[in-house]
Amino acid sequence: MVDITFLPSNKVVQLEVGTTILQAAISAGVQVESTCGGKGTCGKCKAQVMTEIPYLTSPTEKKFLNASELEAGWVLTCQHTLTQDMTIRLQEQKDVHQRKTDFAGVVHTALAPSVRKYFVTLTRPTVEDQTPDWDRLVSSLPAPQAIGFSRSVAATLPKVLRQGEFQLTAVLDGNRLLAVEPGDTVGRCFGVAIDIGTTTVVVYLMDLNKGTVVTSGAVTNPQQAFGADVISRITHASSGSDKLRELQEKVIGGLNGIISQLCQERGIRTEEIYQAVVVGNTTMAHLFLGIDPTYLAPAPFIPVFRQAVGVEARELGLNILGIGMVVVLPNVAGYVGSDTVGVMLATEADRLPGVSLIVDIGTNGEMILTGKDRLLTCSTAAGPAFEGAEIKYGMRAAEGAIEGVRITTDVELEVIGGGKARGICGSGLIDAIAEMFKVGVISPSGRYAFEPNQLEKLPPLVRDRVRKTERANEFVLVWAENSATGEDIVLSQKDIREMQLAKGAIMAGIMILVQEMGIVPQEIDRVLLAGAFGNYIKKESAVVIGLLPALPLERIHTIGNAAGDGAKMALLSMEERARADILAKMAEHIELSNRNEFQQEFIKGLDFKGDN
Ligand code: FES
Repeated sequence: MVDITFLPSNKVVQLEVGTTILQAAISAGVQVESTCGGKGTCGKCKAQVMTEIPYLTSPTEKKFLNASELEAGWVLTCQHTLTQDMTIRLQEQKDVHQRKTDFAGVVHTALAPSVRKYFVTLTRPTVEDQTPDWDRLVSSLPAPQAIGFSRSVAATLPKVLRQGEFQLTAVLDGNRLLAVEPGDTVGRCFGVAIDIGTTTVVVYLMDLNKGTVVTSGAVTNPQQAFGADVISRITHASSGSDKLRELQEKVIGGLNGIISQLCQERGIRTEEIYQAVVVGNTTMAHLFLGIDPTYLAPAPFIPVFRQAVGVEARELGLNILGIGMVVVLPNVAGYVGSDTVGVMLATEADRLPGVSLIVDIGTNGEMILTGKDRLLTCSTAAGPAFEGAEIKYGMRAAEGAIEGVRITTDVELEVIGGGKARGICGSGLIDAIAEMFKVGVISPSGRYAFEPNQLEKLPPLVRDRVRKTERANEFVLVWAENSATGEDIVLSQKDIREMQLAKGAIMAGIMILVQEMGIVPQEIDRVLLAGAFGNYIKKESAVVIGLLPALPLERIHTIGNAAGDGAKMALLSMEERARADILAKMAEHIELSNRNEFQQEFIKGLDFKGDN
């Protein structure tokens, strides 16, 4: 066994010689980006070896690391195994959600949670009245005959009763007695709404009395280390029951970390959280529940379950009251999950007037087209380009990421955190490509302009940035002297291609839904962009690159994390939870893989048309 220390957190783990540094980081619970899940194809898992030890640079590292990085001891963590005690410095990761703190707010839904608290004063037992404690309590609660016996509550009851001088608060979830607390604690009643994204997990700590968000937190999904997309996670989970458990433990560990932190910040005990409502894509729901997702990956993409699921928290190890219910909202299909049902709930998709297109862009793109008494859904594997993966200088929307680009006489950038750029995130990429297309740096087919007649139309400072190198044709977004990494930050022809594939898939999905409804895109009355990513992209750029149909910009609205809002609504209202079931059943899922038109629409969607 050897000791490995990770900086800057100073976390130490003891592991066997032969374990990869990436696996060691996963065991230590420290964050390393590893889009390819350790296959050596993404180049994202960089770290600096601080211990002086000899090691051989692999050909993969020569491809992804420059000479100065190699000189300074930077390696790809998936390419090296532990040989002795080592200290490794990781790249600092700051999540996008840390700059977006204002999640708090009132959720607009009639407040009717299934969890209620009742303060009761009971008569003291006497020799004449020898009613058992349980019966004495239950007879004072609503619908006593429906309340079943709970061993765990009964176990605490005699002490709680006497501690509170026969005044206590009972916590009921429907007809389940969840807990008894001495005295009057009616004012403290909490739940969590959870959105498990492939990339980010978000927890909203909710006050069930007021219907408000007390606070919220987010972290990168710790399963990220096993690959950026759902297919890599399914592949990992399928390789053995211990691997499935590992993925389940990772996500639950991540959630527990946020829950503990939020509770600590607000002086709330985790046992005062009596219920959790969870949304996520179908794969994430399977992994969260520890259910084998193997058959979701190949056609015909069969999930194990579709209905809403309720499990006691202690069965999953989720850090709320042990016998509190964890409710996972229903899925629609293998690739349209409860997160999309959450979006439908939050937008009241079935009640919107006219025709509405709702798009949730993440690692997968889920689309809903609603109108003409139909609720159509589909999903496309958009590829992780929007998350910055598969892009040479791509990164998540974290500090140092270029999130906005404008090209006039030269390139102007917006960088998260305001410092020097380290890379580019999805919204920056969309902006950069839209701007490059508008000024003529790239042609409608996505190729860089190198013909003299094309180049001469570009402003001189922009023209200098278009270059051919041994590696690729590329555009320099940031010159080395202005970048945080000391090297040029470029967009290569391959990066543009990745974005074309991603947006082509989204547009093809939209077009098939539109055709299925028998309308043309111009008949769409409103486009709602859901998800954190939707919040940041510039509508105009999305239309220019053809990620969205060419509609007047005033018809396009961003609606934030609607999936999370749906989870909050289902936590706060039994009626909304019942509506989630109805919406999941109402939704018609359009499977794109067996549509002949998909390929045609996909090819049409690859070009940049710039319509607006
Ligand atoms: Fe190491 Fe992708 S190259 S995880």
